[in-house]
Amino acid sequence: QIIRREDYRAPDWFVPEIALDFDLDPTATRVQATLKVERNGAHDRPLVLNGDALAAESVLVDGVEAQGWTMDGPDLVIPLTGESHTIETVVTIAPERNTQLQGLYASSGMLCTQCEAEGFRRITFFPDRPDVLSKYKVRMTGDKARFPVLLANGDPIAQGDCEGGDAGDGRHWAEWHDPFPKPSYLFALVAGDLVANKGHFTTMSGRKVDLGIWVREADLPKTDHALHALKLSMAWDESVYGREYDLDVFNIVAVDDFNFGAMENKGLNVFNSRYILADPDTATDYDYDAIAAVVAHEYFHNWSGNRVTCRDWFQLSLKEGFTVFRDQSFSGDQGSKAVKRIEDVRGLRASQFPEDSGPLAHPVRPDEYIEISNFYTATIYNKGAEVIRMMSTILGPQKFRAATDLYFDRFDGTAATCEDFVRCMEEAGGVDLTQFRRWYSQAGTPRVSANLTQEGGKARLKLAQSVPPTPGQPVKEPMVLPLKLKLFGGVTGRPMCDEQLVLLKDAAQEIVFENLSETPVLSINRGFSAPVIVETNRTAKDLAFLSAHDDDPFARYEAMQQLMLDTLVAAVTSGKGEHGAVIEAVRNTLTDASLDQAFIAEAVLLPSDSFIGDQMGVVDPDAIFAAREALRGDLGKALNAEWRAAYDGAQANRFEYSPAAKGARRVKTVALGYIAASGAADAAELAFGQFEAADNMTDRQGALTTLVNGNSEKRTEALESFYQRYQSNFLVLDKWFQTQALSSRDDTAQAVEALANHKDFTLANPNRARALIGAFSVNQRAFHDVSGRGYRFVADQLIALDRLNPQTAAKLVPPLGRWKRFDAGRAAKMRAELERIVATPGLSKDMFEQASKSLD
Ligand code: ARG
Ligand code: ZN
Repeated sequence: QIIRREDYRAPDWFVPEIALDFDLDPTATRVQATLKVERNGAHDRPLVLNGDALAAESVLVDGVEAQGWTMDGPDLVIPLTGESHTIETVVTIAPERNTQLQGLYASSGMLCTQCEAEGFRRITFFPDRPDVLSKYKVRMTGDKARFPVLLANGDPIAQGDCEGGDAGDGRHWAEWHDPFPKPSYLFALVAGDLVANKGHFTTMSGRKVDLGIWVREADLPKTDHALHALKLSMAWDESVYGREYDLDVFNIVAVDDFNFGAMENKGLNVFNSRYILADPDTATDYDYDAIAAVVAHEYFHNWSGNRVTCRDWFQLSLKEGFTVFRDQSFSGDQGSKAVKRIEDVRGLRASQFPEDSGPLAHPVRPDEYIEISNFYTATIYNKGAEVIRMMSTILGPQKFRAATDLYFDRFDGTAATCEDFVRCMEEAGGVDLTQFRRWYSQAGTPRVSANLTQEGGKARLKLAQSVPPTPGQPVKEPMVLPLKLKLFGGVTGRPMCDEQLVLLKDAAQEIVFENLSETPVLSINRGFSAPVIVETNRTAKDLAFLSAHDDDPFARYEAMQQLMLDTLVAAVTSGKGEHGAVIEAVRNTLTDASLDQAFIAEAVLLPSDSFIGDQMGVVDPDAIFAAREALRGDLGKALNAEWRAAYDGAQANRFEYSPAAKGARRVKTVALGYIAASGAADAAELAFGQFEAADNMTDRQGALTTLVNGNSEKRTEALESFYQRYQSNFLVLDKWFQTQALSSRDDTAQAVEALANHKDFTLANPNRARALIGAFSVNQRAFHDVSGRGYRFVADQLIALDRLNPQTAAKLVPPLGRWKRFDAGRAAKMRAELERIVATPGLSKDMFEQASKSLD
């Protein structure tokens, strides 16, 4: 059943207030809900309360048993005559049996909730849509020993022990009120044996906020980083967006079983524990950065998502795109902006570009869906963030801030649309974004060609754009593309003009540069100002030149990547590689003492197998792997002395989490990888030494990865030692599974099949499932093993996972859906597995949508 954006209709009934009373028990939790409902306008439609696997035990209207209520499938339908009523329902649910991890569920002994997008209807009957905003009162009663801590949204109001008699059974209760009207997807409660790392934050207007990061007692020492990140985020949103926190408490709870990263429930964020827990021994620098980014993201949702929410789920990018843009800017401000931008663009190219060019391509504001959970995608989040970034580029910082002020001010306390946001940009920015709106409606990654030609002192830049057809959108209109560009003198390396912002609006446009004193080299899409694919007529020499001279760090990185990519694609097609230009460019960057270490580490990394594949008509995984390994080997050998010097120079003292120390660690592991690629006799020794001596997980995992990709006897020893050391730490054990699933060895497919039968493997925990199945299916060569065993294995796992947890299973379908990009033999095998999935009896609608659309 397809839900369409054009079918949106305002709700028939509002629910200004709701009181919830939970009698908590893992096997049978009783939920009593009291709703104040008000008819919206003149109509005679009944009240429809959504449910999902709920049975009403009692339905009262204004205190008396309701007459004539019915079930319409999962939903409760109550005919009502007056304008406003009080509705009371009772249901009983079993959190312990909830393997979908949506609604109220059990995780490691605690009870917690996840309601976005449509999980609240698994807890109680309610109009479960984001444009119904209510004030919540929540009462929870439960066993005091089992659930000493009872948390919900808003502020704590009262708590106590249950009265004596036979109720003197060790039970207690707590009440929480949230004064801010919110949609049901922001509801949360947590009950468990938890302790908090507590802190305080005083807001700019002087409000004192109590902060708490709630975890199991044993994890308490791993929560300082998250708490610190929270305080930084609160201060950042005040200084950059003028947004202040609005309740007396802000709590975060870490849970082990979680379908995605985290959730912004009002005043009570619930997190996947991997985005909270960190100490040097167990978390990598990447983990530390991700924790800060996700803490910031969820905190920022308090304004971009909670105070202003979405009218319907088609508007999801209104809160997600904007909030990703905000968290990216925050992270950029904590360290190197340039490196953060490089990481974000790498992520966009790895996840969003393939989505945009595949069978599941959809616009930033989709027109239809079967299951909304499938639309929490890189397009909604990351392309959505790029769309906001482009508007901020077009408006400039002052006007952009005025526009966000207007937006928050105008829509505070309401459920808004993407259109509302764009109109604020237009009004405060004094710009016309009519054509720009196509970024919300047209799917597909635009392609830009930029050809620079010179005639004497004059240069002509020919720009052209096109947007490829995507499912349901065969014909596209030109987009507005903000392209930052600049020219550099090909001899002196000096800038020949200031950076210009060109708004490419037509299919083609020409720009003429006059009075040039030397041959110009084009630097374009600087800072990745538009999320597009740019093709230029720049030579290998131009790219090498820019990789050394461009004054925009992103463009410098990009020139190097393009040079590497051109080299690799040529090698894949011709079977032989000319590596000299890349080697010289890498040498140049590696030995440039003026550059930041983290930047160097990014710049000298070769494009991934899959990104190389994305450039080709038909992906040949084995040829790509061979070409990339050959280039890695040559780089390792030719620059042996430089890698050794970089490696030795990056030996840090004691662990420290600072941009400089992170950069040094990154260079160290990248250098180690090249030393190993060179085939040096001492490489395994070196890696094993780093593995054993490491005082932090970044160095240890970096060394492990190098060993796991190789054939030395140290490989088994390191894997075994890692396993023994971290056996009881399930987050680190995920890394053990993941590193093996990402291995570049020939036997990875077999190894992964064996790991699926390891005693520590389980599909019931989403992190563990993703660590093995998710990682394996993005390991291009291993997954696409010509025998098809990788496809069969993944399909088997997904069918099994779907029975437990459809949301997490469906997220893992896209790699199988990329069959069109492969040779006929592989494509047929991939399709056969998708067909097998679609034909599985009892398949969820999540899986059905992903797998059946992938076959089209
Ligand atoms: N709103 C959450 C976040 O981005 C994610 C919720 C994901 N929900 C889903 N059904 N996939 O912060
Ligand atoms: Zn979000």
